[in-house]
This record gives sequence, C-alpha cells and structure tokens, in this order.
Amino acid sequence: MYFKQILDERCGCASYLVASRQSHEAAIIDPSIETEQYEALLRERTFRLRYVIDTHVHADHVSGARQLQAKHGAELCLHEAARVAYPFRPVKDGDELPLGQLRLRVLHTPGHRPELISILIVNPPRSPEPSMVLTGDSLLVGDVGRPDFGGGDAAVQFESVSRLLRLPDWVAVFPGHFEGPCGKGMCGRPNTTIGFERLYNPLARLDRRAFISTLVDGVPARPLNMTAIEATNRGLADMAWAMLTSAAPVREIDIDALEARPPDAVVLDVREPEEYAHGHVPGAVSLPQADLASRLDEVPRERPVMLVCQRGMRSYRSAQFLAQMGIDQVASVKGGTGAWRAAGKPLAMGDTTAERPRVAESQWTHAGAQSSYRI
Ligand SMILES: [Fe+2]
Repeated sequence: MYFKQILDERCGCASYLVASRQSHEAAIIDPSIETEQYEALLRERTFRLRYVIDTHVHADHVSGARQLQAKHGAELCLHEAARVAYPFRPVKDGDELPLGQLRLRVLHTPGHRPELISILIVNPPRSPEPSMVLTGDSLLVGDVGRPDFGGGDAAVQFESVSRLLRLPDWVAVFPGHFEGPCGKGMCGRPNTTIGFERLYNPLARLDRRAFISTLVDGVPARPLNMTAIEATNRGLADMAWAMLTSAAPVREIDIDALEARPPDAVVLDVREPEEYAHGHVPGAVSLPQADLASRLDEVPRERPVMLVCQRGMRSYRSAQFLAQMGIDQVASVKGGTGAWRAAGKPLAMGDTTAERPRVAESQWTHAGAQSSYRI
C-alpha cells in the first residue's frame, strides 16, 4: 500500500492519500481546496483516483473534494446523513470500499457532526485486522472534536469515541486535525495509536457525564470564516476564497495606538458576540471571525481597519485574511481586549445589536466585495 499524510500548517488540518501500489487505485480523504498537492502525488506515482472522501462537511477548511471528483471522474463519498446540495455516493456504517487489495471500512462516528465517518484501513494480504483508522474530527491526538459545529452532540461523541477506543491497541490513529480550533487540547502530534489514547487521552479517562460537561463547557471560538466555509462545502455558496492561504505578516499596533486612532479608523471586534457583550473597547463593532468572509462587504476598504480580539491571535489571523482580500489599511491590536482591560482602560458593555446601527450609519463601501452571502 501507499499512505501519505498531508499537513496544512495554516489551518491545522490533515488530509490523506491512500493507494494500492498493486492496482494503482487511490483514495483521497479530506482534501483541501489546494488540490495541486494531490495532483502532483497522483502524477508522480501514476495513481488513478477512485474515491474522494470527506469524513464530514468541514467548517474550517474548504474541501477540494468536488474539484478532484470532477477532474478524475472519482466517486465522491460522504455519509448518507450529509446534507449537501450536490450529488454524492452515500456510505453508511459497515460499508467497505475496495481499493486494490485494500479495504476502506466505514465507521459512522457522529458527535462532532452528525455525518462524520471514520475510515478503517484493512490490508487483508497482511492481516485481517485493521492497521490504521482515519478519525476525522472524532478522536484527535489527546483530544476529541468539539460538538458545536452544527448538529454535533457531546453525548453522541462519547459513544463514538468509546467505540473507536475499543479497537485493538496497535491501530494507528490519523486524525483530521493536528492543531487548530476543532478541539481544545490537541497535543500537536499528527498521529497516535488507539492504545496510547485509551491510556493517556484525558477525555478517555472520563465517565460519560464528565466527558459531556468537559466538551460543552468553555467551547472555544468558532474558526475564521466558518460560516462561509461551511456553506461552500455544503454547496450553498461559492466562497472558496474564504480560506486563509497566505501567512504574510500584517501590521500590529498596541493599545495606546488604538486609543489614539485617527477619527476615520474603524475598530472591529472579531471575538464571539458573547465575549463582546461582556466588555469591549468603546466604539468597537462586533464582527466575529467566523463571519468575516460572509460579511466582508461590511469592511471598509478606504479607511484604517483595526482588528481586536481577546489576546491578539484571532485578530492577527483575521487581519491576514483581510490583507489577502486586498484590504491594505489593516492592523491587529497586540494583546487585544485583555491588554486594554489590564491597562485600566474603560470597557463598554452590551450586546452586538446595540452596535450594529453604527455599521449601517457609517455607510461603508466595499467596491470589491466578493459576496454578500448570509447563513
Ligand atoms: Fe470538523
């Protein structure tokens, strides 16, 4: 067999190319929209793409599955519960996809999302037992996928993870993420084993009740451009550009520069609405990072734009995305609202609706808006 894990450092996602070296048939699992990396592998190895599989409808990277399917005439496989607006081959628990001498066995492991599947890889000439499992966003390394990305359920996730952890110790685990916002405590390794996770994954040691409360308490912020990315992956929008593909440095300013900003500057708070309601820099407008691409037409192009979050990480990535979209006068506030608060500066309270009219009144223009799609 041939097996390759492809790591995307920008979004923390992992994708996979599995093939039979005998039959030269290949499957690609969870491809990103940057499909040339898979094309190069297929060419070099003279593999024929037979299946493209998305373990679930992704919320944090734009899938290249349909692009690869169209180019290679491959079968696009998703779990039968997937709600998408394009045709696909529905698969269900227990199905086996033959790939030369290999077998890709489908395990339905919902919880992160209802349609999430894991793929067991079996190589019968070597062993009747599976040697690897691709877990998507169910079992992660030192963590499990969060349940709040649309239809997820922490109790269901407990059942799915428990089922995976009943696999033999030696089964190698290859997750859909090695870092990023899909879990709270991924250790950073790109793979693990069932045996190691059963012993040392902190969530594997919890009973059902504790597992559920750990998952639903303190859920991290939704990923950058999540609403646009998910809609694109469901076939409801065409916003492949919503993925951050550049990591160019952007300007950072401190809280004193934020306070002394020019009068025409716009401050966008990219945290979640609840965080914003609990205290924000006076005058900042709420525009969560998850909605940045789908509300891009609200971001002015002709005025300085200062992005602020809690500590400066989300705002930096958001600023990189705006720069990628050609918005030049953008800066990220170092230290974020936390630094503002720590310096004893006043915070404004209240929900986002109270701030929204200011956006409309400012009559922002955005000549280059790509879309005004709303979820
Ligand atoms: Fe996911």
